[in-house]
Amino acid sequence: MSDSDKYPADSGRRRFVKGVVGGAALAGVGTTGAAAINSATTSPGAGGGPTQAYAIENTGGPAPRGMPVIPIEIDGEGFIKGVWPEIQTITQGGVEAQVAQTDDYKGTGVTYSQAWFQYCGVQSYEGMAPDFESDNYFRSDSGGYEWQQEVYSDGDRLNVNDFDDYESWGNGIGRAGLGKPATGTWRSEDTEDTMPIQVLRSSRIEEAAQDNDFLAAATDQGVIAWLNKCTHFCCVPGYKQAADAAKFNAEDGVYCQCHQSVYDPFSIVQTLFTALPRPEE
Ligand code: FES
Repeated sequence: MSDSDKYPADSGRRRFVKGVVGGAALAGVGTTGAAAINSATTSPGAGGGPTQAYAIENTGGPAPRGMPVIPIEIDGEGFIKGVWPEIQTITQGGVEAQVAQTDDYKGTGVTYSQAWFQYCGVQSYEGMAPDFESDNYFRSDSGGYEWQQEVYSDGDRLNVNDFDDYESWGNGIGRAGLGKPATGTWRSEDTEDTMPIQVLRSSRIEEAAQDNDFLAAATDQGVIAWLNKCTHFCCVPGYKQAADAAKFNAEDGVYCQCHQSVYDPFSIVQTLFTALPRPEE
């Protein structure tokens, strides 16, 4: 990974996450308002550039910032899909380029852009082409939790009804009852690049969404999702997946085994980072 992926992230996190969120958890989300978001988002999409994303907060270890949230929707049969932004044509440096970007996402004032995911090589994945053909459903992967292996075959779509025991679920790591997780993939059908995602259904998210516009728009029935690529050196972390997480106070959080970064899936914050450009098409 190049230095350019890490360098701006540090300053972004200091300027925005610390200042905006402070010690607050979900109650602090969104306090900067739309003006701050717009002024920071000057060059999203194909060329990358400064990008304001919503993320699950990084609370420990060397990771420079949180992992970006993927807004979700649940269809009439309960299947969970990640929302892909609208395809737009923009002019960047005098050249026309396609980007997937939704301005004022569901009336929240948030600019939701594919640039949120342009780091760690993901910017070059086939699924990051704005017009990549996908139904955008999350699909269960073979590395998931025991319950997933019992319920799903590899590639089955995640369904909210399979999370019905989310208020009591536990697996012996940390406290039970905080929420029920799953791992999966997104926009990766028939590609060589697998985009890893994590989903968590939790009553904490349900409650937080009641008085937060962005969470209300980006989650449903307590289900939140994020791109599961550690912002440090791109490993795939896990929520309650590693027994040694407790040594780093991460048994109830999202823990990256590579270098012990910790993320809090119940604290959604704004982060500023420099998205890497997608390759020329
Ligand atoms: S902590 Fe280094 S890759 Fe996650």
